[in-house]
Amino acid sequence: MSLTVSLLVLLFISGVVAQDGWGVDYKDKSICALKGSTVTMRCTYTYPSGQFVQKAFWTKQWGRGSESADLLDDPDYRGRVQYLGDKQHDCTLRLRNVRETDQSIYYFRFLTDQSQGNYEGAGGVNLSVTDLQVEVPERVIEGDEVTLTCKTSFSLSDRPTFTWYRNGHPLSSSTDQLHLQLVSREDADRYRCAVLGLRSPEVTLNVRYGPKSVSVSISPSGEIVEGRSVTLTCSSDANPPVEYNWIKGTSSVGKGETYTMMEISSVDSGEYKCRSSNEHGEKLSEALTLNVLYPPKSVSVSISPSGETAEGSSVNLTCSSDANPPVQNYTWFKEGGSSPVGSGHSYRAPQRGSYYCEAQNEHGSQKSAAVTVKGVWNSALYAVIGVTAGCGCLSIIIAVFCVRRKRRGSSADDKNQTQNVDPNAKDDTNTALDPVSRTSDDVYNTLATVHSSPSDDLYSALDPQSRSPEYGTLATVRNKH
Ligand SMILES: *[C@@H]1O[C@H](CO)[C@@H](O)[C@H](O)[C@H]1NC(C)=O
Ligand SMILES: *[C@@H]1O[C@H](CO)[C@@H](O)[C@H](O)[C@H]1NC(C)=O
Ligand SMILES: *[C@@H]1O[C@H](CO)[C@@H](O)[C@H](O)[C@H]1NC(C)=O
Repeated sequence: MSLTVSLLVLLFISGVVAQDGWGVDYKDKSICALKGSTVTMRCTYTYPSGQFVQKAFWTKQWGRGSESADLLDDPDYRGRVQYLGDKQHDCTLRLRNVRETDQSIYYFRFLTDQSQGNYEGAGGVNLSVTDLQVEVPERVIEGDEVTLTCKTSFSLSDRPTFTWYRNGHPLSSSTDQLHLQLVSREDADRYRCAVLGLRSPEVTLNVRYGPKSVSVSISPSGEIVEGRSVTLTCSSDANPPVEYNWIKGTSSVGKGETYTMMEISSVDSGEYKCRSSNEHGEKLSEALTLNVLYPPKSVSVSISPSGETAEGSSVNLTCSSDANPPVQNYTWFKEGGSSPVGSGHSYRAPQRGSYYCEAQNEHGSQKSAAVTVKGVWNSALYAVIGVTAGCGCLSIIIAVFCVRRKRRGSSADDKNQTQNVDPNAKDDTNTALDPVSRTSDDVYNTLATVHSSPSDDLYSALDPQSRSPEYGTLATVRNKH
């Protein structure tokens, strides 16, 4: 109520109200609007008291009475025009996103409930649309020299003063051009110009540049254990956006911002780099070292000395494996036994048998195949002992046999035979136990030969090559002792 009163007071003061009480007051008779901007046409109207407004609208047509076309029904203005007034005294209109075709004179008309109550505000609002733009070169590359121009669609009579703004802050240039030397990424800001009270829309300078600060990140971070999925991501600063290439060592392995290895394995360990490139340049990232951790694999045991060893001397077993990090714990087992027999990288096997090792790091463990430790001379030694024992028995038989024959024949034959063998007797026994020192003169006995020719034809089955005509029998040796 008080608003209406003060409004009426204001209207009387300005003296716009017609004598009979009818009137429309356009606050700005002429509006110069910038293309794309929003225009508000402020307006008030009056009519004799006791009447009620039926219809209130804006039109571009003058003097057409109630036939005038409502701007709100004009398809060219659909969605852009809004009546902010009411059916009392406010007739304000708002027009958004002004186009050059909007340039026209706009009138306010209203109808009351009385038959003569039809009024259109004379003069209207003269809307002129101008274009004021900051013009920038289509392609600006870092290092270029760039000129921004403030363009107007209307002719400027004298030389007006231009004002330039960068991110809202005024610059010193006062002409219609703004010069930027050696443009850098930092110059990619918002620019606007202003002249005669008009401000151009802001324009963002698009400075193109090659990749900078290329870096590789890895996800998940932390330890990379075999079997996991790992993604490398490359990031860089470049305009326009870059293309990424992935390089492992010296070979290209992939493209794209990310590089994913689904089930990572030890072969994926290595140095990774990404190459970021666009039309203005390319740059390599620092290398990212991928260290894939894995439990021991290819676990094997080596024997030292290699080959067979003499009974009684122990052998050195060494466990080797491929693991990352290297194996911390080696455990030795004897086949058939469940509890460990030793630990450490190498193990001195004290006795014959099959051994295996188990290698372990923090990611798992693996067992080697079993290796058999044996002495080659064991069997020979046992054979010799066996033969010796056998011959001992035989010698008794032979002795008995000889005694019987002796009783039948002469006693001189018996004596000769014993003397023949005698000088070699001691050596024979030794060499049988220590084969290394064998010579061609040494004599070896077999049960078979002893049997067929007890006195002369006894020779070694263990080393037949070394047979010589000069040999005796173990039987006789044994006999003698
Ligand atoms: C409207 O304004 C423009 C620009 O100020 C001017 O050139 C034109 O003559 C005006 N039109 C009328 C009808 O006053
Ligand atoms: C066993 O062999 C390994 C590897 O050859 C060696 O490092 C180690 O010293 C040897 N151990 C013994 C007790 O000879
Ligand atoms: C390895 O051996 C050390 C000492 O012998 C022990 O403390 C540790 O737990 C072992 N590590 C594993 C993974 O078994």
